Amino acid sequence: MGSDANIERVLWTEEEISGRVAELASQISDDFRGSPVPVVVVGVATGAFLFIADIVRKITLPVAVDFIRAESYGSGTESSGVPRISSDLKIDIGGKHVILVEDIVDTGNTLSSLISHLETKGASSVSVCTLLDKPARRQVHFKLVGEGKFYRGFECPDYFVVGYGMDYDELYRNLPYVGVLRPEVYK
Ligand code: IMP
Repeated sequence: MGSDANIERVLWTEEEISGRVAELASQISDDFRGSPVPVVVVGVATGAFLFIADIVRKITLPVAVDFIRAESYGSGTESSGVPRISSDLKIDIGGKHVILVEDIVDTGNTLSSLISHLETKGASSVSVCTLLDKPARRQVHFKLVGEGKFYRGFECPDYFVVGYGMDYDELYRNLPYVGVLRPEVYK
């Protein structure tokens, strides 16, 4: 599996993640099967790059794929408030079902800005599929659009985690598992 000296403990192994991703993909496939409205899966860069790559390969429906980027964190471990959309979609999502794929929902600021942005672009619904959800730290209660649904892989305890796409200062994204970063690394 590979390990890193700066990881205090592994929360979800590669196998556990892959099993859960398959379950989420099958739920999404069931929920959107036969939809007359096109489905667009939108990954939030960079953190969702592995999750979206894995989940779209297990979704058994025709879907378009695009990315969006929102900046909020800088290089620290605390959110710096309302994020800014720094790279927008290429695909026109007007009248389509959007499934926003996130690595982790923490304060909820990023998600709520992204959802409003996608709503102003005319999405017929906005669903969210996040690998991890840290409800303990929620500040903003986001509202889905239309018939949008909320999918989540795992509930994450209140630790700063890295791996499977998630970083600290742009490192650790390539770890195949999700683990807790030793606090000495960022203190
Ligand atoms: P929010 O706006 O506070 O919900 O933050 C969401 C974004 O912050 C996520 O998409 C991640 O990129 C980043 N983030 C939040 N918590 C963590 C964490 O524990 N590890 C790594 N990145 C995190």
